[in-house]
Parts: sequence; C-alpha cells; structure tokens
Amino acid sequence: FDASDKVGSLSGQTWVITAGPTREPLDPVRFISNHSSGKMGFAIAQAAKRLGATVYLVCGPVKLPTPIGVERIDVETAIEMQEHSLRLAKTAEVFVACAAVADYRVAEIASQKIKKSSEQLQLVLQKNPDIVASVAALNNAPFTVGFAAETENVEEYALGKLHKKNLQMICANNVSAPGHGFNSDTNALTLFWPGGSVSLPLTSKLNLARQLVEQISKKFKKSPQ
Ligand code: CTP
Ligand code: CA
Repeated sequence: FDASDKVGSLSGQTWVITAGPTREPLDPVRFISNHSSGKMGFAIAQAAKRLGATVYLVCGPVKLPTPIGVERIDVETAIEMQEHSLRLAKTAEVFVACAAVADYRVAEIASQKIKKSSEQLQLVLQKNPDIVASVAALNNAPFTVGFAAETENVEEYALGKLHKKNLQMICANNVSAPGHGFNSDTNALTLFWPGGSVSLPLTSKLNLARQLVEQISKKFKKSPQ
C-alpha cells in the first residue's frame, strides 16, 4: 500500500463488479456453465469497499461469503447479469467485468426435462449479449474494465478486446500458466490501457485485487469520465 491507498480514498464513488460464472438452462434440471470460482471478482469488491467505495457485486452462482459492506445481487443467466449491470452502471463511476459469462445460451429452453432418445443430440445455441461492451456503450459510461483469460497470444487477444469493446482497461491473464487458473487462490495479471501497460506478478487474489483497484483509481482520476 502506498499513500494513495488510504481508507476513504474511493468514498463517493460507486463501483459495479461482475463475478463468477453464468448458468444457462437447457431444461428444468440442466444447464451450461463453467468453472469460474468468483474469487477474483469478490476480492476486487472487497478491496474497493475497503477504500470506501459503494460496491455492487453482480454475481452468478458461487460459493463465497459476501465481503462486509458489499451489496450483492445474485443472478443466474447472462441476460439477468446484463439487466442488473446496465441498471447499476448508469450511476456508477467504475465498472469491472470479472465474470466468466457464458458466450452462448440454448436458443430455446425446453419446458420439460429433455428425454434421452437417439445416439446424438444437437443443441442450437444463441450468442449471449456482451455485457461489458454494452456498459461501455452507455451514454455517460463508467470507467469500464474488462478481463481477458487467454491460453495463447495473450497480449494480442487482450488488446483486441480492449479496442473492440471500447474499454478503458483490460486485465489479461494467461490461464494456462500454473497458479493462474479459474479456481486458484493466486493469479497474475497484465493490465493494458490505450497507450500503456503494467504487469502485476503472481500473488494472492486479494493482494492482486488491491493493486488492480489502485491502478484503476489512478487512471480514473487522470481521465474522469
Ligand atoms: N464478457 C461480457 N459478456 C459476455 C462475454 C464476456 O461482459 N457475453 C466480458 C468478460 O466479463 C470479460 C471480457 O468480456 O471482462 C472478456 O471476456 P472473454 O470471454 O475473454 O472474451 P469474449 O469477448 O467472450 O471472447 P472469447 O471468449 O471468444 O475469447
Ligand atoms: Ca467468452
């Protein structure tokens, strides 16, 4: 922690953070999802709250305690996560998209349990809306930060997402490196913004979240939205 890390330095700011996976139903008993633990998003919420921000945590199904003082909104699907994100982002200063949103949902959810019949079953999938891009496209959009979990060409893909989604910052992590994974308690990130980057080496997710919150608040101060 340096001098800018003092308690209360984010007071008056509202931060909205998405975390965890989304869950996309196939029928009344089944769903498509992923292994996101939500740990990184919860750590960011805790770090921002500690510095005095009003924090909303929009999260998919995760097994984690809510950080003290954080307003938690539980959702299941990407569509629900988008609704709450857009609603809350309209009056927020900072939006951090940490969730591992399912890229697709089934085109039509079966109203009854799907019965087993032929050897092969084809599901028709429909692309989900891009939540972070829709927040960045708002009038008076907050300072919008995305994540990019990649297994190869990390910098190239992360910079592509920064520009395509019109973000102020993207946090890239190489999920194929040991200790950098979805369920790990540790992580490392390289932050990219238009015209710069910084690498935050492997450490606990809470420690990393504190450094990330500090970097966001510095950039946000320099370029108030
Ligand atoms: N994201 C989102 N809504 C989606 C998909 C992704 O808000 N429907 C956000 C994630 O929360 C993350 C960023 O976009 O902050 C990048 O997610 P990622 O899955 O890495 O990128 P995609 O654009 O989905 O591209 P791909 O999965 O093909 O790499
Ligand atoms: Ca994706």
